[in-house]
Amino acid sequence: MLKDKFVAVGVTGSIAAYKSIQLVRLLKKAGARVQVIMTKSACEFIKPLTFQVISQNPVITDMFEHPVSWEVAHVALADKADVFLVAPATANIIAKMAAGIADDMLTSTLLATKATIVTVPAMNVKMYENAITQRNIKCLRKNGIEVLEPGEGDLACGYSGKGRFPELDDIVAHIKIILGKNSDFKYKKILITAGPTREPIDPVRFITNHSSGKMGYALAEKAIQRGANTILISGPTNLKPPLGLYKYIPIETAEEMFKAVMEHYLDADVIIKSAAVADFSVKHQETEKIKKQGFNMNIELKKNPDILQELGNRKKQQVLIGFAAETTRVVSNAQDKLKRKNLDFIVVNDLAQEGAGFAGDTNIVKILHKDGWVEELPKMLKVDLANEILDRVYSYLPQNRAL
Ligand code: PMT
Repeated sequence: MLKDKFVAVGVTGSIAAYKSIQLVRLLKKAGARVQVIMTKSACEFIKPLTFQVISQNPVITDMFEHPVSWEVAHVALADKADVFLVAPATANIIAKMAAGIADDMLTSTLLATKATIVTVPAMNVKMYENAITQRNIKCLRKNGIEVLEPGEGDLACGYSGKGRFPELDDIVAHIKIILGKNSDFKYKKILITAGPTREPIDPVRFITNHSSGKMGYALAEKAIQRGANTILISGPTNLKPPLGLYKYIPIETAEEMFKAVMEHYLDADVIIKSAAVADFSVKHQETEKIKKQGFNMNIELKKNPDILQELGNRKKQQVLIGFAAETTRVVSNAQDKLKRKNLDFIVVNDLAQEGAGFAGDTNIVKILHKDGWVEELPKMLKVDLANEILDRVYSYLPQNRAL
């Protein structure tokens, strides 16, 4: 996503400037080309040489220094940037940007760029909450400049409150979303289910499975980064929903997942059912905790709705993808599901294999296509597998099928 993208990073004079070193490192690691511009006061906190080493690019600090090449003139840099980060952004730079001031290299380049600008405020809580700063932030947003919400907590100045530099991973994810806006799933609506369902027995007990949600959340994250309007319907997990979702719908039971999916499937272009839905729920759910004494040790179960089967029956334009978690007759069982549920392809994990299936960061899958083609993928991270799956989904979209 960030590979070969040009990210300009403006660093201003805040104690949080040191966090931008790690931010630049993460951007470089993700494959971006990074050009850092520092204001004079930023240079009081961090030496430009540090950013130069991390970004592997000379750092621009002075409007009037002799250029290394004519390319680094502020207009050329403004044109080259795919995205422009101001991180950390002080109250001072925010005020200058809101007023359209161009009195140094950073402010001049910011005024000249057409790239999306993402401002990452980091300052004292009182400065952040000051009505003038808030007015300036509003003005930036009104003019199409993104301003991330700062984090809350202890601040370097000794105060506590809003004003902390946000989590680095959140900033990188945000940039990926911006760059993904022009990607292959732009204008597509993708509905993804993830995690387990929980079927209550009584107020304190339930039936569930080992799904952590990692596979489904990875799919959602990558779909967002590739520009899709992504709806994530998720059973209970410990994961943070990815940034940039169109909608996040938390559910508990298979019945609730069924309702949520049926409410949203109709205009979806793609539906990916990676959730591990419980096949059964308890027929008579107790409203009080079941006591040991007098309990007959039998729980009567009833069948849950098969959501994927219902989607297959109702399928129109949607690309429909199922998952299968199998322990025996892996391929033939999955083949049966592929046909019976009217899927375009099914992703099968053999739960007996080390590194496949539930809870881990990796998966090992076969992809069975409706035309009989079987692909065997090597062990890979779930986030990478998510992209592999989306690559295949892309080829099933109606406009690509015709090609
Ligand atoms: O969440 P993780 O820890 O990362 O683990 C990932 C995973 C193992 C959960 C995932 O890779 C996976 O295999 N998900 C599907 C698990 C499953 O429920 O398989 P199944 O063979 O029981 O179901 C087949 C398909 O029917 C699935 O797409 C499932 O979502 C769907 N289904 C099943 C039952 C039901 N009542 N309704 C359904 O829609």
